[in-house]
Amino acid sequence: MERTLSIIKPDAVSKNVIGKIIQRFEDAGLKVVGLKMLHLNKDVAKGFYKEHNERAFFADLIKFMTSNPVVVQVLEGESAVRLNRQLMGDTDPQTAAEGTIRSDFAKSIDANAVHGSDSLESAAREIEYFFDKSEIFS
Ligand code: CMP
Repeated sequence: MERTLSIIKPDAVSKNVIGKIIQRFEDAGLKVVGLKMLHLNKDVAKGFYKEHNERAFFADLIKFMTSNPVVVQVLEGESAVRLNRQLMGDTDPQTAAEGTIRSDFAKSIDANAVHGSDSLESAAREIEYFFDKSEIFS
């Protein structure tokens, strides 16, 4: 059993597809064991994405992630990190495989509908970043 962090990003929240995206996780066998809606401020977004702070897209990423509320979730299941990434598809919706969340709900690499932890180590850090232990229910 693994846990991973998922964020439904501002574009998907604005498009009213929170439920459709969570349905994909549940249909694939992932269980939502923590969930909250937040409007990230700049400091929280910068801290979350700190490994990207030298990248050219960093400022745009922070602007986008603070533009509207997001839904953060802890997903639990067998191989949850890899399974969530398969369900999301490539970072760029233009190259994401058909039937993936990004292919179906996103339009650009910035507004790409969802974030998912890329490793078990990132998952542990990212879950702790948004959730107290008392807010996770398995
Ligand atoms: P995410 O999985 O949330 O991690 C970092 C985000 O930066 C990524 O999704 C994209 O939305 C965004 N981003 C913008 N440009 C790029 C890029 N060239 N490479 C990777 N990520 C990018």
